[in-house]
Amino acid sequence: MSTVSARMSETTKTGAKTMLSDKPVSVVDIVRMKKAGQPIAMLTAYDFYTARFLDECGIDAILVGDSANMVFYGEETTLSITVDQMIYHTRAVSRAVKHALVIADMPFMSYQLNADDALRNAGRFLKEAGAAAVKMEGGVSMAPTIKRVVEAGIPVMGHIGLVPQSVHRFGGYTVQGKTEDAQKYLLESAEALTEAGCFSIVLESIPADVASQITAKIAIPTIGIGAGVGCDGQILVTNDLLGLFPDFRPKFVRRYAELATTMKEAFAKYRDDVRAKNFPGPEESY
Ligand code: KIV
Repeated sequence: MSTVSARMSETTKTGAKTMLSDKPVSVVDIVRMKKAGQPIAMLTAYDFYTARFLDECGIDAILVGDSANMVFYGEETTLSITVDQMIYHTRAVSRAVKHALVIADMPFMSYQLNADDALRNAGRFLKEAGAAAVKMEGGVSMAPTIKRVVEAGIPVMGHIGLVPQSVHRFGGYTVQGKTEDAQKYLLESAEALTEAGCFSIVLESIPADVASQITAKIAIPTIGIGAGVGCDGQILVTNDLLGLFPDFRPKFVRRYAELATTMKEAFAKYRDDVRAKNFPGPEESY
């Protein structure tokens, strides 16, 4: 049985049938999943083989996040990654994926200046990199730009709450939406982004009850990261989930593997084998 047909007959842990089929997941499918009450599983990828493994496991949507700047390039923030760098990573991911929806993150300053700029840069991710959608950070004030991009036929995922491109305004990676005013602003933003035509919205680092209220109020799916279980779907940075980003571990990260430890053990064994002349052996020699 092919991986894709294996996925078709899969049922979730709760016994519910998944909506997965042979067809690539579209933004319309993602919106339908909310209506059907089917949780949406998203992760990030920046390279071909990680994307292939995520796709083969039936992950619904893959974000080529600007988190690449931190977990791939080792920078302290997401701010300095460029459109060309993001296109390079998005192209590798798109080439690997047969099923999942591929969404490319728009880098800092590639969409904030004006709607023309946003549209030009968003278009590059579809034309040059094979993405099916883009993601932009920002609330009420970003809605007109997003509307323009959506009207040009480019699906947009919104992102509110702790938006990492505004780290300097927030003074760090701090939980958002703690005051009544901040909660009101988050809800207004979610409504404005829905109105602008977003097909879904990432809610990052906000109290779980606030995320649940937003999720109940809007028609499009919410994808939580540090926003509790009441969202329509969840996303994590894959390197966090795998234990491959040891420098910083937010409270919301669940580590499903400790790959940094596994890699270091393998590297040390190889080093010892080379030093002891145990590698290569006859079976690894010509
Ligand atoms: O860049 C990224 O990986 C993201 C997710 C954490 C939502 O924006």
